[in-house]
Amino acid sequence: MQLDEHLKTFGTEDHLQQVIMSCAQGVYEIAALVHTGAALGYAGSQNIFGEQQLKLDVASNDILLKVLGEQSLVDYVASEEMDDEQHLHVSNTEEGGAQSSGVFSVAFDPLDGSSLVDVNFAVGTIIAIYPKGSFIGKKPGEMHAAVIAVYGPRTTLFVAVKGKGTHQYLLTDGGFMLQKEALKIADEGKYFAPGNLRACVKNPAYKQLVDHWLTEQYTLRYSGGMVPDINHILLKGKGVFTYPGYMDEPNGKLRLLYECGTMTFAIIEAGGIGSDGKMSLLDKRVEALDQRSPIFAGSKKEVEKAISFFV
Ligand code: AHG
Ligand code: MN
Ligand code: MN
Repeated sequence: MQLDEHLKTFGTEDHLQQVIMSCAQGVYEIAALVHTGAALGYAGSQNIFGEQQLKLDVASNDILLKVLGEQSLVDYVASEEMDDEQHLHVSNTEEGGAQSSGVFSVAFDPLDGSSLVDVNFAVGTIIAIYPKGSFIGKKPGEMHAAVIAVYGPRTTLFVAVKGKGTHQYLLTDGGFMLQKEALKIADEGKYFAPGNLRACVKNPAYKQLVDHWLTEQYTLRYSGGMVPDINHILLKGKGVFTYPGYMDEPNGKLRLLYECGTMTFAIIEAGGIGSDGKMSLLDKRVEALDQRSPIFAGSKKEVEKAISFFV
């Protein structure tokens, strides 16, 4: 079954469906760049995080801006690769105000796993579809939908719609076809994806947690790419992904708006949980576009167990 047909089976609102399909078009175009190596190398610029941008970061960002800009339904856009949020389709009102036809605001990490592109590891795209308006003050729990692409040997797509579950689609010659419906993450499962292991040196709690996983003979499944690493949890239906903070970076590296909130939304729609160690990431208010957050996400009991080492 085609993506758009499947979205209809669980009553996805027409406008939301339209924006999801635009995101899928963007993923289709990014996949072509990733798989042909058409935009390898450095762009010679930095993003607001001070990270050297790849040509692929910039090209992927441009693709998503193009497909979303064509949508009169999009109000604000924000990207890990842009300094600030952009207000689209703004027209000035008689009163001198500014209004937009937009219904949704869309935030994205156009290419997640940039440091893995040159070694041909799987990478991803992370897109969050929020209600209209600025992202500042929003919480990931307000999201209408998440669209997450995995560029591996095959290009696959997760779409999670609020209250309607997380589903996986495969990119075929005939478009995105339903592959797995209503993914389910069990409460327990012995796979671990321990990000930021360097934090073990200054954060004994993390060292004890990793020792726990080793003692209990958990299976390590970690690639260094958040999207493929969480893809593994979603498809195996169990496991835990962590990226804690540490002294130098108490909030860790991953971004609440562009990565942690969206991946958590898809995990929760599949029956898992996602926390910053203290609260659900769905309830965490976006104070700034570049806000970082620790993340513990995946199987409910595995996440709770992991967090218990830090209290
Ligand atoms: P991005 O490539 O968008 O900057 O994000 C990469 C992230 C995430 O994919 C991964 O979990 C994490 O960086 C790995 O960080 P370290 O390189 O510090 O391990
Ligand atoms: Mn990223
Ligand atoms: Mn990125």
